[in-house]
This record gives sequence, structure tokens and C-alpha cells, in this order.
Amino acid sequence: MASLAVSLKRLQLKNPVLVASGTFGYAREMQAYVDFSKLGGIIPKTVTPLPRRGNPPPRTVETASGLLNSIGLDNDGIDYFIESHVPYLLELGTAIIANIAGKNVEEFVRMAARLGDVEGLAGLELNISCPNVSGGVDFGTNPEMAADVVRSVRNACDLPIIAKLTPNVTSVVTIAQAAADAGADAVSLVNTFLGMAIDWRRRKPVLGNKLGGLSGPAIKPLALRCVYQVAQSVDVPIIGIGGIATIDDVMEFLVAGASAVQIGTANFYNPGVSVNVIAELAATLDELHFSSVLDLIGSIE
Ligand code: SIN
Repeated sequence: MASLAVSLKRLQLKNPVLVASGTFGYAREMQAYVDFSKLGGIIPKTVTPLPRRGNPPPRTVETASGLLNSIGLDNDGIDYFIESHVPYLLELGTAIIANIAGKNVEEFVRMAARLGDVEGLAGLELNISCPNVSGGVDFGTNPEMAADVVRSVRNACDLPIIAKLTPNVTSVVTIAQAAADAGADAVSLVNTFLGMAIDWRRRKPVLGNKLGGLSGPAIKPLALRCVYQVAQSVDVPIIGIGGIATIDDVMEFLVAGASAVQIGTANFYNPGVSVNVIAELAATLDELHFSSVLDLIGSIE
């Protein structure tokens, strides 16, 4: 059978299919549906230094082939995460990558230092791309600030670091290059596209926060383009995200240059999708007589 193992600099995964932050809760919610040990990794919902209530409702709205959300980083804070979620997550037999967001570099650094002391975590994903919060520094849209947060976190802990990038910029390549130069082990791209839904009868935005982030099949070609562009220009492992729901989607992202993928919105309507595509990935590689998934990565001509 073909090997599915991938290495993204210091991050080792048994296979390249992870579940995306914000679409899988803290895993407990999914235990009836998913054999966690089969996953390449789990990225739980973003945690922040203090608990956050998130944005006013409605916080989600379905669109044609997509989902708009304006959750606003609703979470119970890092203390609760470390005490109540991490011990459970670390028993699941797969790589656990904590996802953190801060309002400034110091907040990222403090959380990274604490998580760096937790034995057993596989890595840290830096959420520098949430479109639904205001009042903080917009790290993900400015290359110097993106580099600053990556470099500072890298100095604060020994965990592998993934910078999660926004597509809401003129050039995602520029931000990816900055994150890579600052020492990111990988970049994950893309987070959601800023969008909006309007109830024209009421003359009002549908979402309580007016704007939200679009995910799901609607964004797949856009995300694939971003992955391809970064893979062509920047020497950094990429984790592809954006509307991935089938084995063909996974194959497309790997061929475009992603070393791994995250499945997000599809978890909401098919929680077992990730385990299914991992089995299909193994079968497809065997059909192609590939000895390793590595033969596929970046193989676009
Ligand atoms: C949210 O909590 O608003 C979504 C998280 C994200 O888009 O990063």
C-alpha cells in the first residue's frame, strides 16, 4: 500500500488529511461519527487569551454552494482549553494542532509559550486571518506584521508553526513569503473570503455582524488558485483549505502543490468525510501504482 505520511518541515503527519479549525468543535462533538485515529490531524476551534462570546446572531447563513459565517471567535479562552479540551484531544491518536488568535503579538506569544509547555501537541496554527473580528491588528493582510507574529511565536516555543492566511489580500504570495521567511513550518491557505448576504425585503444584512466569511464548494477554485500561486513562488509547505469535500478535491490540491489539506465546511453535513477520503486517497494512489503520496504533491505540469 502507498505511504500516506507527509512532513511539513518539523510537522510530521501520518496522512495529509486534517480537519479544519472551527468545523470540528473540540472533537468531542464528532466522536459518534469519526474514528479520530484515522485522521492526519485535528485542528480545534481557535482559542484566544480570554473567553469570547463572539458576534451577535444570526452567525451563519447558507449560500449557493457555500456557507457564510460571522462567529467572531466564540471560545472559552486558553485556560479552559488547556484544562478541559487538551487532555481529551491528546488521547485521540492523531496529531493535535492548536489554533490561536491574539489581538497583538504579545498575546500570540503568551499563548504560544503556554501551549509550548503542553507535552504532546503536534503544532500551532496561527489564525492571522479571521475576517470576523475587529479591534486587533490585521496581521494577515500586512507582510511585515505577519512576519513579526510568526517570528515572535517561533522564538517563544518549540512547536512547529503554521500560519493560516487570508485570501482577502491583493497577493497571498507576498504574505506567504513573509511567513516563510519568518520561520513558518507551513502556511495553511485559505481562510474564508469576506462576503455578505442581504435580506432585501427587510432591507437588512442577514448576518448580525453584517459581513462574514464564505467557505464551502463555492470557494474551491479560488482557493486552488491561491495554493497553486504560492506553490509556484514560495519555498514553504502548504496546507490547502477551501471547499474540499471529495477525493477529487484532495487530489487537485495535492497536484497543485499542497503537502496536506484541511477539510472544513463539509464536516457540517458529512462528519465522516475526512476518514472516507483518506481511504479513497490510499486506494487511488495504489491504482496509480504510486509508492507514496509525495509522488503526487506539486506534480502539476
Ligand atoms: C470565526 O470564529 O469568526 C471564524 C474563524 C475564522 O474565520 O478564522
